[in-house]
Amino acid sequence: MDRTAFPPGFVWGTATASYQIEGATVADGRLPSIWDTFSRRPGAIADGSTGDIADDHYHRFREDVALMADLGLDAYRFSLAWPRIQPDGRGGVNRAGIDFYRRLVDALLEHGITPWATLYHWDLPQTLEDEGGWMQRDTASRFAEYTALAVEGLGDVVSHWITLNEPWCSAFLGYASGHHAPGRHEGSGSARAAHHLLLAHGWGLDEIRRHSPAATAGITLNLYSVRAASDSADDLDAARRIDGLSNRLFLDPVLRGGYPADVVADLGESAWFAENVSEQDLAAISAPIDFLGVNFYSRHTVAAGAPADHALTTDAAGFEAQQAAPSAYPGSEAVAFVGTDAPRTQMGWEIHPDALVDVLEMAADRAPGLPLYITENGSAYEDVVGPDGTVDDPERTAYLRLHVDACSEAIRRGLPLRGYFAWSLIDNFEWAWGYTRRFGIVHVDYDTMRRTPKQSGRWFARFLGGPLAQP
Ligand code: NOJ
Repeated sequence: MDRTAFPPGFVWGTATASYQIEGATVADGRLPSIWDTFSRRPGAIADGSTGDIADDHYHRFREDVALMADLGLDAYRFSLAWPRIQPDGRGGVNRAGIDFYRRLVDALLEHGITPWATLYHWDLPQTLEDEGGWMQRDTASRFAEYTALAVEGLGDVVSHWITLNEPWCSAFLGYASGHHAPGRHEGSGSARAAHHLLLAHGWGLDEIRRHSPAATAGITLNLYSVRAASDSADDLDAARRIDGLSNRLFLDPVLRGGYPADVVADLGESAWFAENVSEQDLAAISAPIDFLGVNFYSRHTVAAGAPADHALTTDAAGFEAQQAAPSAYPGSEAVAFVGTDAPRTQMGWEIHPDALVDVLEMAADRAPGLPLYITENGSAYEDVVGPDGTVDDPERTAYLRLHVDACSEAIRRGLPLRGYFAWSLIDNFEWAWGYTRRFGIVHVDYDTMRRTPKQSGRWFARFLGGPLAQP
């Protein structure tokens, strides 16, 4: 199969995020983000690394854009670093920050690649965290102000905007389990961070509409297909709780205009939500979006009981779900993530391409006809670099192929899927895992910064008919 099996206009791209690839963390007026701070905390990052240099994309973006053109991409999803554009999270624009993204976008457009800009992929200015970060409602106002600056600065060349990337991770890995920046442990109170993030989405969206009325805008959620390990009432209830925290807590306010009462009650936050979430908040959060971005990686199987009750959960079966649970799922301490015998990636995440169709159905049920995009999908494997610098990664290639097939199946079933972005263009800083996990379809040698397309990248280029595919 190649791209001709998909409808004309289906968007093929790759995705990255600012802190994971840019480096140059003190260049041109950028100030620290919560990830600059958190990555320096002893023990926070598996290999003790930071994003100080990362892929040095800040200085090598032209080469990276040329690579994208070689792959034959239609679009490139990247994120803007808030601390480049508004370094301390308030006040006027840092021109040099906007200029960097203008150079990037100009290079993309010269190659006929459509830029998709994410406004927030986790690098909150540290000054805002010092004032309480996402636990404070004011941070949502600050985000709206930053969005206005970004859209004023780039709206003439960027017409596709994503407000937030995976607010579940920002709220629960950032403020509950503490596995991500800022590394706080607010327990169920982290649900307040979730509300403030969603408010930031709503108010940011409003600024996009105001400053760039013709733009296409949406939000990206990480969705999981959640299954109960058995039909027992307790396991079914465990699945309800995890589906609630992972999916419904974000999908329902954005697409249905209200929080799921059962989830808020599970969290013990009903009183706070009743007092602090107004009708206006919900109206802002549920203002119409032009598309929903879905990041899809895996499926969860859950059972009632403490993790230790289930032998399979105590192995290296994944970070977010297993190691971080239940602390990443506040309010669901009595839930266990159960491994099955499905194959896994190096992250420990089970491979279930069918579940990609399930999560698209979950979204489409709530918002029939709303265009859907897979804004991330990909896998980490232990790559072996051959003597000539190439990487044969049959497992990543197979993962990619299986999920592209699942996209085709979704379309066959009538789901309004309009595009697919592979995570990631290049190997990069994988958050708490540092550089120990590689998701790129292009290999990066961190000593020389040399980029070399992997077999998976060559497969993608062949699928897309990109120049790289030619002998
Ligand atoms: C989702 C995140 O958006 C991205 O930053 C991360 O690297 C990938 N998942 C892989 O974990």
